[in-house]
Amino acid sequence: MSETNTEKATLTIGDKTIELPVHIGTEGDKSIDISKLFDEHGLTVFDPSLGSTSICKSTITYIDGEKGILRYRGIPIEQFDRPKPNFIEVAHLLIFGTLPNRSELSEFSTRLTDNELLHEGLRRQFNELPPKSPPMAILSAMLSQLACYHEKFLPLGDDELFIEAATRLISKARTIAAYSYRRSKGLPFMFPDPAMRYCGNFLHMMFSIPFQQYIVSEEIEDAMNLVFILHADHEQNCSTATVRTVGSAKANLFASCAAAVSALWGPLHGGANVEVVKMLETIQSDGMTPELCIEAAKDKSNPFKLFGFGHRVYKNYDPRARILRNAADRVFSQLKTRDPLLDTARKLEELALQDSYFVDRKLYPNVDFYSGILLRAMGIPTNMFTVIFAIGRLPGWIAQWKEQHDNMAQKIIRPRQVYCGNKIMDYVPIEER
Ligand code: SDX
Repeated sequence: MSETNTEKATLTIGDKTIELPVHIGTEGDKSIDISKLFDEHGLTVFDPSLGSTSICKSTITYIDGEKGILRYRGIPIEQFDRPKPNFIEVAHLLIFGTLPNRSELSEFSTRLTDNELLHEGLRRQFNELPPKSPPMAILSAMLSQLACYHEKFLPLGDDELFIEAATRLISKARTIAAYSYRRSKGLPFMFPDPAMRYCGNFLHMMFSIPFQQYIVSEEIEDAMNLVFILHADHEQNCSTATVRTVGSAKANLFASCAAAVSALWGPLHGGANVEVVKMLETIQSDGMTPELCIEAAKDKSNPFKLFGFGHRVYKNYDPRARILRNAADRVFSQLKTRDPLLDTARKLEELALQDSYFVDRKLYPNVDFYSGILLRAMGIPTNMFTVIFAIGRLPGWIAQWKEQHDNMAQKIIRPRQVYCGNKIMDYVPIEER
């Protein structure tokens, strides 16, 4: 972790001058420590979306938004775009801090396999759900319910219990997601196959038909690993800040991750990949042209946004978007198919990156711009896109939750406010109102 160095910041307010410590990160990023500002000076700082506020010190993921850099435990994201990408080894890297050797990977994989089934009480609940239930509602509710069926893994502070809870979350989230898809299609649930690897097993549970042999395509399995890897962590994004906030109250890991699923569901966050495909389909079907789409996104009187573009942190091309775009090209050529939405997306990107509105505001494609097109190529339906994002992000949420819990100095997260309401006034009995 960075050490507070001798550099100081000075804050002058009225006739008061306050010296503040400065934290310097591994890559030279600086953060002024205001943690004692209220207790010592009765002052707060105003930063509603926390865009200029560091809520923790972390060793997990590094992002440089200006340069479009993303690293997991120091490893550039581009290096995970390799033959036979392995989501489970990346999950190990994020949660335990190191890439696993063969025996560590085997042990971790075995724990996941041992936890791939759902308790029958949880599985039976799917039959009572309306077929059109949003998969994100199911995922959030069922992750929280893991506390009902695995209550012995709720206590905090025991590493073995933490690993057991973490492996249940990662393994069962995949089964829950597959079952929510099967429920929506009126298909029988396919039990997980312990002989299969994580992603292949997911595709098997999603697409197998009873008594018909289902061969998992290597290309699709590799693409599934890569999609999960690219979504695995992203420092203090909205849903990860949610995990840290809920976890700071010493809530258990199941509850904290269930809350993160709800935050990710928002269309400005993880739900954007669904909106991107809807936007591209609208261009395809309703005669909307890419040019009209660009104009609508620029029109402030129009609530329409160019989904998949822009980012709180990246003011450059999101490195994940570039990898996903190339992966979509690769999968289409491997499957010898083409999706007109990819051509539309490329046209939109070309127009936007030539338009001063987007260039001046540093709005570039983000992770969601191409992920939906790749998922469509893999046969994943649109309503499952954000659930796929959540499965990928689980190791990141778990790692960030653990890092916070291991930081003994961490207190409950409780922001302040600037009160702009009524001055003191008296209660008025209803007879006098
Ligand atoms: C994810 O934080 C993370 O790390 C998230 C994530 C992760 O891995 O966890 O990366 C995943 O959530 C990616 C983002 C997915 N969301 C979308 O694609 C939705 C579309 N994007 C926008 O809603 C927006 O860009 C946000 C929400 C992503 C960022 O919003 P900001 O921070 O408010 O954008 P900004 O301050 O940079 O905006 C500056 C200007 C504003 O216009 P002006 O007031 O200057 O005139 O750019 C405009 C914005 O209105 N703008 C857009 C736009 N995004 C920003 N205009 C049109 N279309 C857009 N997409």
